[in-house]
This record gives sequence, C-alpha cells and structure tokens, in this order.
Amino acid sequence: MVESARMPAEARDPRQISSLAETHQRQFGHAPELIARSPGRVNLIGDHTDYNLGFSLPMAIEQSFHVTANRRQDRQVILHSLLDESRISFDIDSAAPLDDWGIYPQGVARAFEQRYPEAHGWEGVIVADLPVGAGLSSSAALEMAIARVFASFSDVDWKPLEMARLGWQAENHWVGLESGLLDQIASAAAASGHLLLIDFESIEVTQVPFPEGVEVLLVDSSVRRELTTTGYNDRREESFEAARALGVKSLREASLSDMDHEELNDVLARRARHVISENDRVQEVADALRRGDLTTAGGAMSASHLSLANDYEVSVPEIDLLVSLLNEADGCRGARMTGGGFGGYVVALVKPESSNETAKATLETYRERTGLNGSAFTATPQSGTSVLHL
Ligand code: GLA
Repeated sequence: MVESARMPAEARDPRQISSLAETHQRQFGHAPELIARSPGRVNLIGDHTDYNLGFSLPMAIEQSFHVTANRRQDRQVILHSLLDESRISFDIDSAAPLDDWGIYPQGVARAFEQRYPEAHGWEGVIVADLPVGAGLSSSAALEMAIARVFASFSDVDWKPLEMARLGWQAENHWVGLESGLLDQIASAAAASGHLLLIDFESIEVTQVPFPEGVEVLLVDSSVRRELTTTGYNDRREESFEAARALGVKSLREASLSDMDHEELNDVLARRARHVISENDRVQEVADALRRGDLTTAGGAMSASHLSLANDYEVSVPEIDLLVSLLNEADGCRGARMTGGGFGGYVVALVKPESSNETAKATLETYRERTGLNGSAFTATPQSGTSVLHL
C-alpha cells in the first residue's frame, strides 16, 4: 500500500463534496457521477478468530476512503490517488498484477468481474483520512469503496456480505494475505451506533447497541509492519494444524478441555487456546455491553490482550507497553491490541470525562520509555460503505 496517509477533506459536507468533484474534474476532464465512501474499523474483541470460523465484535470508525467516479465506455479503470499523487490504470480483463496499491482495486475488479461479467470501466480519484497500513483496515476500506463503485455502475444491488467476500477474494488471491472476512464485513456492513457481532461460520451479523457512558479510545503505537511479511499467515497455518490434530473442521468446534490432547504440541495448544478462549470472550463482551456492564467487558478485553501476546504471539513490546499504561489509568475499563497485531493501534474502553487526560498521560510516558511519538483519538460507531449519487 501507499506509505503516506495524508488527511484530505472529508466528503460529508457540501463544500467538501464540491472540492472533491472539482479535483475529479481537473484530473479527468469530466464531473464525477458519484462518490463512494467506505470506513476503517476497529475490532473491540475477537482477533485471529475470523479465519477459524469464530466470532468478532468490530465497529466502523469515521476515518474512511472516498472514491469519486465517472463511468467509461470501455473496460479500463483509471485511478488517481491523492495520497501520493500517483496514477494507475488497468483493463478489467487483464490478469497481469499491478505493483503497490494498484493491486487492491485490480483484485476487486477481477473478483467483481468473475461474479458480474457486465462490470463497467470507470475513472476516479481516491482520497483517505484513514491511516494507511496501521491496522485500521485501510485495505478493506479501499476494497469496499472500489466495490461500491463497480456495483453502482453495473446496476448490481449492494449486498454488504457478498461484497465483503469479493474484497476478501481480492486480498487472498491477489495481495497474498490469507486473511479472514473481519475487515471487509466491518467496513461494508457496519451500522451507526452499533458494534457488529459477526459469526464467521454462518456469516451472520447481529447489531449490538453501543452502550452509554463509555468511549472507545484508539492509541497508535506508530510501529508499522506489513502483515504479509509477519507471522500472520504462519499463525493461520498453525491454527489449521491444531484443528486437524484435534480432528475438527475448525477451532470453532474445539473446547478448552481438548487442550491436553496428545497430538497437540505446546505451540499448537497455545494457538488453539487463544482462539477457543477468544470466541468465549467475544460473547462475554457482547452480552456485557448489552446490559451496560463495562467492568466485565473491560476485563475480557484485557484478558484478550494477554492471550494474543502470550498464546498467539502476535503482539510487540511497544503495544504491550501501551496496554499496560492504559490499564494503569483511572478512567480505563480495559485495553488490548486490535487487528492482526505486530504493531498498529491499541483499543481501550475509557470513561468519557477522562479520555483526554488518559490519552495524554499514556502518550507522554510512552514517548519517555520508547522515544516514539504515538497519537490517539476517540471513535464512535459509524455506518458502513455508502454511495452518494451527484
Ligand atoms: C487482519 C485480517 C483479518 C483478521 C485480523 C485479526 O486485520 O485482515 O482478517 O484476521 O487481522 O483478527
């Protein structure tokens, strides 16, 4: 993906929409017909459970990708990114993979075209105020915004779960990250004011109202590692191996009492223990938030972090430090790494009246101990992918 994450205009108020439309006009010589928007996500709990057919509880955040578009008469797609002022073009039917960020739209185009052969070419401008490559699902947000444009121009109804699967195909078959469906479903199907309880076996989504009296604080460690070059795909393989050793289709079907199975070595047992206990914690947090029990929800989030750090081994020392600093803060109910791991953001549930103070104190100590400049923001649950016809 592109390295820099500039913070361009939000396409929500009319002035910003017209400025995006003008940028499109300058780049392509015509007015755009529509603007698609797709948000990033933060996962409150349930990491490395999606490809194990378990459960997660994410929400969409305000920071998003926006893509302006006008239809072309041929099968070419031309995209200009304002993130790094680069331009790519490809033919929908071309199987030669592009380099760098172009592989995401191209992967979506290929997946869409296989399902809907009537896919139209188009041209558009891409902007984002979502940090790229930071674990907030910038790739899925881009994929779903691109899919939204294809769906509009091909008169295909927007079915969020089906489109999430097309984004997932792009990621797995083109980009090379053997991810699950968490990011694409969260970006495509999120509902304002709600968390999404996702069951990855039945691919069912239940909306859980976000409770009063608490805020989601996101703290950036500023540590960045591409998941494709970390242990992500290895963890996936290990959990599949654990399922095979236990004789179950997926770890969804295993229970903690299976952990002393003689076929499981220590590593596989720890990987399995994370997935099995994390699935239970997702249910625990969803139930606790439904009844406004923030103590139970926060406790399960902190337990989830320990499980990801010790059993699944996808945390890094900087993230562990942020989690422990947050847990020491008065207003914090619970904190954990979020997403694939190996850097990125920490998510915490905090008391709204002290969230500024908690963020400031945490970042100061973090800088003193690591020399790194983190940053933080609070998030409220937003709706998923949308399109504005101009
Ligand atoms: C990344 C992947 C998701 C999911 C998370 C971990 O974000 O893209 O599919 O596996 O890691 O929960």
